[in-house]
Amino acid sequence: SIKACLFDLDGVIVDTAKYHYLAWRELANDLGFDISLEQNERLKGISRMESLEIILSIGGVVLTEEEKLARAAEKNRRYLELCKQMTPGDTLPGVRRFMEELKSNRILLGLGSASKNATVILNSIDMLHYFDTIVDGNRLTRGKPDPQVFQLGAEDLGVGAEHCAVFEDAVAGIQSAKAAGMFAIGVGAPSVLTEADLVIPGFETFSYTDLH
Ligand code: BG6
Ligand code: MG
Repeated sequence: SIKACLFDLDGVIVDTAKYHYLAWRELANDLGFDISLEQNERLKGISRMESLEIILSIGGVVLTEEEKLARAAEKNRRYLELCKQMTPGDTLPGVRRFMEELKSNRILLGLGSASKNATVILNSIDMLHYFDTIVDGNRLTRGKPDPQVFQLGAEDLGVGAEHCAVFEDAVAGIQSAKAAGMFAIGVGAPSVLTEADLVIPGFETFSYTDLH
């Protein structure tokens, strides 16, 4: 039975995925190329510096380490600028209700995100208080698809992997959950999230009882 639910942040709790894409796209455009929505799928769940590497390889652009750090910092400034307009109303439909349901059924809640901005974002949508533990990009030594992010979350909560369900919108995140031995629920399109145990379009049509 499920005792803990581990949630990805970007694209699962809040639609920051569109802001990440906009900010990366601006960076690519500055360097003289473009990135498609399809190429953007590969960036989901991937750390900031790894995403930059993928983008640079798409554009065939070579930068020094110093330039890379400067570009990544610039992307993050743009991203946070876009995020400034976010309010609690930007929480994706059904998420708050679902988490309330989990809480009242004594299910533990964890965040498992690659983002270094996770607590800032959660605060701005007033969702930080739902979580019994936060695992974010500042704690990770190995990013998704490595299982570390969800293993740390389960460890913090004192729950075995077989009792954890993970909610993820990224291919790398589903792989991470599966590698950790957890039940992986994809949030998005079944054609993209092919390795998930179950795929849901969002939380509006999903409730606690569906976890059994
Ligand atoms: C993941 C996003 O949650 O966090 C990625 O899916 C993003 O798109 C990554 O690159 C790192 O985020 P941040 O906020 O630390 O740049
Ligand atoms: Mg995500």
